[in-house]
Amino acid sequence: MIVDALYKSSRNVFWAAFIVIAAGAFVRVTGSGLGCPDWPKCFGAWVPPIDATQLPEGFDRLKFNAIQTWTEYLNRLVGAAFGLFVLRLLFISWRHRHVGVLSFGLSLTLFFVTGFQAWLGGQVVAEELRGALVTAHFVFAFLILAVARLLMWLNTNTARGSGSNRMLLVCAVGLMILLLMQVFLGAHVRVHMEPILMEGLIPRQTWVNHLPEEDFWHRKIALLMLLISSAMLYVWRSAYFRGHIILLLVVVMTQSLLGMAMAYLSFNVVAQFLHVPFATGVFVAVLDLIVMSSSLRVKQL
Ligand code: HEM
Repeated sequence: MIVDALYKSSRNVFWAAFIVIAAGAFVRVTGSGLGCPDWPKCFGAWVPPIDATQLPEGFDRLKFNAIQTWTEYLNRLVGAAFGLFVLRLLFISWRHRHVGVLSFGLSLTLFFVTGFQAWLGGQVVAEELRGALVTAHFVFAFLILAVARLLMWLNTNTARGSGSNRMLLVCAVGLMILLLMQVFLGAHVRVHMEPILMEGLIPRQTWVNHLPEEDFWHRKIALLMLLISSAMLYVWRSAYFRGHIILLLVVVMTQSLLGMAMAYLSFNVVAQFLHVPFATGVFVAVLDLIVMSSSLRVKQL
């Protein structure tokens, strides 16, 4: 059964997750990941200092940078606000558990995964941004987003009854596999480039020459995704799914252009920042197509 309050609450969680992911990307490009050296507190306090003279004992004053500290602190506040949205969703789904047991199960899952994600965030800080942990943090953010999106689908009537489409489902699942490969390859590129970007010893104009081998495959898969999305648009040009496929193509194209802007414009920070929310956009567009083309949606999940 469809519950409007559940739809609205999961929609809030979904957009809040998008904002949390964008905030995380902002922290990354501004190099603020270690702006707070401890977790969950920041410099031993719930509200961090604004000046090095206010630092408590045991913290190195020379390493203090108020802008980075407050950037990371605001990111944590955004994460905490997200947690409240998840709690609200859990409460609403619990109240409607008799008519929406699956929604309740998914909300509960979301609650536990969010708790785990918060803990993982602490580990990322404790391990000083170790590449594998940052990537795991990224993947769990996608998982949270996916659960919130499924909850939205589960509680909406929008466009039901267009029927399943096995061929489209195969293409969408293929795209999802390619996207996940992009996440791992892209993360590899990031881990490789991070020290080069941070040290700043190599001139910006030559950074592109230091991209690792994985970058080659990252580009080839982007091209493949573009080709598949274009072919899908051709095949289903007059089908019900057309609008969604156009959207998918637009985000994949924008994402590829952002990648090129990064590679050829000395790792332009705006492109580097936008590359993460747009990767998220590709993920959601593909997920939507999977749900729409499978019989899952028709059976109300
Ligand atoms: C469908 C197309 C694409 C998708 C889905 C995608 C996705 C991603 C993802 C998820 C990351 C990891 C971000 C992170 O861990 O913070 C990444 C990193 C990266 N991507 Fe892409 N990408 C695409 C196309 C491209 C293209 C065409 C290029 C270059 C021509 C490119 C260049 C890069 C670079 C340089 C990084 C490292 C970013 C950094 O150090 O912050 N990407 N990509």
